[in-house]
Amino acid sequence: MSVAIVVGTRPEIIKVAPLVWELEKRNLDFFIVHSNQHYSPEMDAVFFEDLNLPAPKYNLHVGSGSHGNQTGNILIKIEPIFEKEMPKAVLVQGDTNTVLAAGMAASKLGILVGHVEAGLRSYDRTMPEETNRVIVDHLSDFLFAVTDKQHQILLSEGVEKEKIHTVGNTVIDTLYQMREYAELPLDLQLAKDEYVLLTAHRASNVDSEASLMSFMEAINSIASRFEMPVLFPIHPRTAKMVENSPHSFHKNIRVIPPQSYKAFSAILANARLVVTDSGGLQEEACALQVPCVTIRENTERPETIEVGANILAGIDPEKVIDACELMLNRARDWSCPFGDGTTARKIIDILQKNIPELHSKSKDKHAVTVVGLGYMGLPMALLLAEAGHDVSGFDISKKKIDMLVDGNLPFDEPGLPELFAKARNSIEFSTNLRKSDSYLISVPTPIKDRKCDLSYVERAFEAVLEVCDTGDLVVVESTIRPGTCRDVLQPLADKKNKQVLIAHCPERAIPGSTIHELKHNARLVGGLCADSTKAAVNLYSSFVEGEVVPCEATTAELAKVAENTFRDINIAFANQLDAITEDLGVSSLDVIKLANLHPRVSILQPGIGVGGHCIAIDPWFLIEQQEEGSLIEEARVVNDARPGVIAQRLAKVCNENGYKRVGILGVAYKPNVDDTRETPVLHIADELERLGLEVVCHDPLAVNFDRELVDFQAIEDFADLIFVAVEHDVFSDYRISKPLVNKLGKPLIQFSSYHSLPETLKKSLRA
Ligand SMILES: NC(=O)c1ccc[n+]([C@@H]2O[C@H](COP(=O)([O-])OP(=O)(O)OC[C@H]3O[C@@H](n4cnc5c(N)ncnc54)[C@H](O)[C@@H]3O)[C@@H](O)[C@H]2O)c1
Repeated sequence: MSVAIVVGTRPEIIKVAPLVWELEKRNLDFFIVHSNQHYSPEMDAVFFEDLNLPAPKYNLHVGSGSHGNQTGNILIKIEPIFEKEMPKAVLVQGDTNTVLAAGMAASKLGILVGHVEAGLRSYDRTMPEETNRVIVDHLSDFLFAVTDKQHQILLSEGVEKEKIHTVGNTVIDTLYQMREYAELPLDLQLAKDEYVLLTAHRASNVDSEASLMSFMEAINSIASRFEMPVLFPIHPRTAKMVENSPHSFHKNIRVIPPQSYKAFSAILANARLVVTDSGGLQEEACALQVPCVTIRENTERPETIEVGANILAGIDPEKVIDACELMLNRARDWSCPFGDGTTARKIIDILQKNIPELHSKSKDKHAVTVVGLGYMGLPMALLLAEAGHDVSGFDISKKKIDMLVDGNLPFDEPGLPELFAKARNSIEFSTNLRKSDSYLISVPTPIKDRKCDLSYVERAFEAVLEVCDTGDLVVVESTIRPGTCRDVLQPLADKKNKQVLIAHCPERAIPGSTIHELKHNARLVGGLCADSTKAAVNLYSSFVEGEVVPCEATTAELAKVAENTFRDINIAFANQLDAITEDLGVSSLDVIKLANLHPRVSILQPGIGVGGHCIAIDPWFLIEQQEEGSLIEEARVVNDARPGVIAQRLAKVCNENGYKRVGILGVAYKPNVDDTRETPVLHIADELERLGLEVVCHDPLAVNFDRELVDFQAIEDFADLIFVAVEHDVFSDYRISKPLVNKLGKPLIQFSSYHSLPETLKKSLRA
């Protein structure tokens, strides 16, 4: 059973947007009906795009007309749609003729009606909107009131209390979301707090010659009195009225066409003052701490006045000027009574709780080719196959493909054998890149000369371009230098004249927990355009149980690299602390433990250096985009120097005790994995030999290590001292009889300080 969302005007589109995002996030089945009560492209199509909303499934194309004509037309056209779709609930927002007609049609068909922004009253029945509000409130099943004031109004009108829910206003959700992205349009040449924003479109202000005269007088007097530009994004109806009248605008009034919502949000957020006859804008200005003067005699948003954010001035020029003076001098320190940006979440929670039949969208099945079957690509391919997609796994390594075809896994990972057993028969493995509708690229991105080597990604992308069709989705999962999708891949596609949807969805899983994390972590899905994001969100939502977060490609690229860079810097700090504590003769682990008792401090642990192909590599993707001497580069230098520091410490212990031979336990780049890429242990072993010591290494898990690995008995027989470089859990079964040094190069047995070892290993040492 689905939810129908009905809109007709620009404010409705803006205010239902967070509901649509929330339904999408929860993968609930819904569709949008647009009456097209506002019908110019600037007034709605642009808003759908700006707000990243799916196109309406039905467009009624009613256009403008008298109230009866418009309402009747919508009723006639929407009823058969509801009869055909039979949604479980219809959501309407506000007080337009669309709201009235959709509410009446749904109610008469026995479909539940949810009225968003219920209970608003101006008590002015000359406003047609008041009639619409009252009627829709009284036929609705869910009344979503903004504040307690509307809640009380509805109760006083006899609405059953079970139907009323005070949830805030969805426009605050939209505004807060937009504020993240919006920037003042450059062509307007505006400076923050140095202009007045004016909007006006109420029939009572501009539809008759008499009211228009007062209105023009009032706004012209604002323009001449305050030495600031008055920016007037004009509604087409007002423009027409002024054009056909003898009035003209004062020279300080800058008339501009209606703006995109993003641009308008920025204009509003940066204005010194808002003068408006709109209802919604009073709230939005209040939420953004912009003083407001309302050029009406009444308001259905009295809370804005009560908190000091707004003043009712009517249309008399003198009163308007006085009100502007007052608001310009008022402190902007009110609190917003309309919610905290979580209204849509609350509304959908209430619907889901009360209508258990609401169900998830039927998941689209895709043909997907996963390019690169490494630590990340293989689990991804299997998860997609498990979710029911038709998956082909492609790799240039014939050896890997042969292993997989024979039913063998090329590496260890908890849960991978089980997933392989489950999904293996629904996936094909091949050294040929199969044509699909979606492609995921998960190939290496190493560094070359301390820069991101994109050659693997470029080659894989070009191979995809050879087989794909227009409109196919190509997602890069590999970690890439910020800007790669836009500046490298899109031009490659353009060169081949392939119109594909490009997106970046960075891998954020950790070896040892890859499968769980691929499924449950929040996933960033950044498309180069709205359609790419949408297609990628659709694909990831089919198997990801964590939050799927739509964003823009470069933002996703940067966010991924920033995560690992942050960790690298934090580890470098811990390593520097360790060097300081060494000189002071105290324990770095104790210092960090105590510092982390502070609720806002979270220092990571010092170690032997940073390994793996993420934290040790990704920061270089940022360093290459920066001036020299950056904090990020400094952290890399500190961490890269760490194996040398540890080797020096070990050599010191050996010299002091006359030891000549060191046995190293653990060579993988971290505990409990087999991966040895960029492992610092290799550098430590090399450096120990350079310092004149003999070294042997043992690791029961590691693969592809560049030195010989021996068994544990050989270590016991050979070594004078054992260095536990990586604390694999399996070491807890070992019985160690030699002097032992922990991963910080600190002697253990001599000082009985086992604190940095796993509990199990400590026990075995005591035994
Ligand atoms: N492994 C991780 O923990 C992890 C975590 C986060 C992000 N990442 C990122 O994910 C990407 C992949 O990492 P990985 O660890 O899975 O790498 P990997 O080295 O384990 O696997 C890469 C695979 O790609 C194959 N390959 C190379 N070029 C190819 C091509 N042109 N066509 C088809 N296959 C090709 C290789 O044969 C190999 O099997 C990297 O960018 C890495 O930084 C990895």
